[in-house]
Amino acid sequence: MRVFVRAIAPALLAATVLVAGGCVWKTPMSSVVAGSDYNRAILHVYTIVTWVTVVIALVVFLALAYVLARYRERPGAVASTTPGLPALEIAWTIVPALVLLVIAIPSIQIAFRTQGKPRPGSLEVTVIARQWWWEFRYTGLDVVTANELHVPAGRPVLLKLEGPDVIHSFWAPPMGGKRDVVPGRLNQMSFTPEVPGEYWGQCAEYCGASHAHMGLRVFVDTPDAFDRWVAAQRAPAAEPQGAAAEGKTIFAGSACVGCHTIKGVSGGILGPDLTHFGSRTTFAAAMFPTRADMLTAWIKNAPALKPGVKMPALGLSDDQARAVAAYLVTLK
Ligand code: CUA
Repeated sequence: MRVFVRAIAPALLAATVLVAGGCVWKTPMSSVVAGSDYNRAILHVYTIVTWVTVVIALVVFLALAYVLARYRERPGAVASTTPGLPALEIAWTIVPALVLLVIAIPSIQIAFRTQGKPRPGSLEVTVIARQWWWEFRYTGLDVVTANELHVPAGRPVLLKLEGPDVIHSFWAPPMGGKRDVVPGRLNQMSFTPEVPGEYWGQCAEYCGASHAHMGLRVFVDTPDAFDRWVAAQRAPAAEPQGAAAEGKTIFAGSACVGCHTIKGVSGGILGPDLTHFGSRTTFAAAMFPTRADMLTAWIKNAPALKPGVKMPALGLSDDQARAVAAYLVTLK
């Protein structure tokens, strides 16, 4: 006991403080900060579970303390010969079942409510999960983008989840729970974003070498900002000047065009649509910030930066890669 108090207890305390110090409540990927009605509903279940757990812990610890004090070993004490208390045993079987029921009812309600029929006036987006990036196709808006989903606050959103390769899982915690993207099956997720802001997400189903590098961003815009974003995405690709114009020529004459679309320049569909690449804050599924130097390294040798990536090393010179990067970042 003395060893524990002197040596181990302070070490445990220090470890607890350090670990707890790493907890931050409000982060872009926090599941305990609600950015949508879906996540608010999940937090409601969290609250129920937390309070139920607190009550159970109190009851168990008080009962334990009572038994330890009341029946501790004393001189002359005789071991109990009570054969059992059927009423108590029935009670502690039924009560946990009831507790599970109390948690199950709202959980099942939320699961059904967020994947059923689309709500009236929904913004519909097809989410295509691929190894290892996300494509977002806005129904009826002629907008296609990658890895960064923009949605307006206050309007219901319906995500239709599709995948051509393996199982992925769409997960942006402040927007709601995980939902699997299963090839050959249409899963849906409906929610209403409520709080404008930038939220982070991540593929939540192991899907191969770069599963860990399959991040995403959700931008909840005010309705006006969203309309402006849609208008900008629908506009033709910007016409570059200077070094960027040279980059466009190199791009158009390279293998890039086989996989990427830039409206008016190329029509490939294997990789992300780059028509408004420069309007995104990150690239390579949220792995890197959209900066010309990062992009130059990526264009030169993507496989060196992201394991398993389908984009090959293109064999461009440093100057060529720099020019293509300069072109792409101008595509706002
Ligand atoms: Cu996609 Cu993990």
